[in-house]
Amino acid sequence: MLILGIESSCDETALAIVRDGVHVVASLVASQTESHEKFGGVVPEIASREHLSVLPKLWKELQTDHLAAMQQLDAIAVTQGPGLVGALLVGSSFGKGLALSRKLPLVPINHVHAHICSAFLDRPEFSEQDKFFPAIALVVSGGHTNLYWMENLTTRKLLGYTLDDACGESFDKVAKMLGMSYPGGPQIERRARLGNAKKYALPKMLARSELNFSYSGLKTAMMQIAQKLKKSNESLSEGEVDDLCAGFQEEALQQLIRKLQLALKQNPEARSMIVCGGVSANQRFRSLFAENFKLPLIYPHLKYCSDNAAMVASLGGYEFRSLARKFVSSSWDVFSRYPFELEL
Ligand code: KG4
Ligand code: ZN
Repeated sequence: MLILGIESSCDETALAIVRDGVHVVASLVASQTESHEKFGGVVPEIASREHLSVLPKLWKELQTDHLAAMQQLDAIAVTQGPGLVGALLVGSSFGKGLALSRKLPLVPINHVHAHICSAFLDRPEFSEQDKFFPAIALVVSGGHTNLYWMENLTTRKLLGYTLDDACGESFDKVAKMLGMSYPGGPQIERRARLGNAKKYALPKMLARSELNFSYSGLKTAMMQIAQKLKKSNESLSEGEVDDLCAGFQEEALQQLIRKLQLALKQNPEARSMIVCGGVSANQRFRSLFAENFKLPLIYPHLKYCSDNAAMVASLGGYEFRSLARKFVSSSWDVFSRYPFELEL
């Protein structure tokens, strides 16, 4: 089964073709990071306009380089939400237009659920998927910190989510506060390697017995420590920034580890853990996981950790196969307040 995926929920415009859920035939991603960097975060209006100008160019590139595959498509999958509404409208309108003109079914996809599929893209070692389910899945991105119980890639239950900032969002906000550019995650990781994680005392999230997350307390504590340090010596020294990054990263990641441990305790029949989304690219997280769990960890290739359309096409294929008749209508819209978790 050959699916075209379209992604435009935030600041990446992407198109991809995926065969049978896991084989990536083509994956084109145009990042808008440069356009948003000077504003310190994603500007929704700019994001929408860039999607509008970039999507046709990516489409043309796919037509030129993968004409045969483009002529054999079985369906089109497009991110319906959650995301920036204007940005989503561009991708979904593009998808609806294509589906109408090519007379192909259109599968609306939940972006957060699609991230989970990214872990299986081009990973022949996990091709016998049944061996790895049921699984616990963690989506840690700039917009979400969601924990799921997965029967398989299309049947899931939400176990926990963030009560305030998403994990990646807190990396971005702390990085901005320390004078670094967007996105902050990779920069904090780099600086953290040079610092001492134990230098500053940072708060741990309370409510140890539940599976929800919280990052605002940690972020506020970082701000207070930085302000105190600035008062005594005007601006932060390189060493202080390194130590702050190390301390913040360690606690931000340890919170993920603690919640995964609790989820496993409550669901001991899990056969693997899937961790995906931008923060899953963090190497310190991967080593912490290895120190704490014996279960197989399934995470995406680096290029599929952040937003892409291959994950959208992948989930599109699975959902199309299992729920084909649901997608005949294209009357859905893109409002992220829809209760996605209850949909399937
Ligand atoms: O999945 P993604 O590309 O987009 C969303 O759907 O949000 O995730 C982007 C997020 C950003 O917050 C970025 O700072 C974070 O992932 N991120 C990282 C790392 N690489 C990206 N956070 C921590 N460590 C990293 N190496
Ligand atoms: Zn994402």
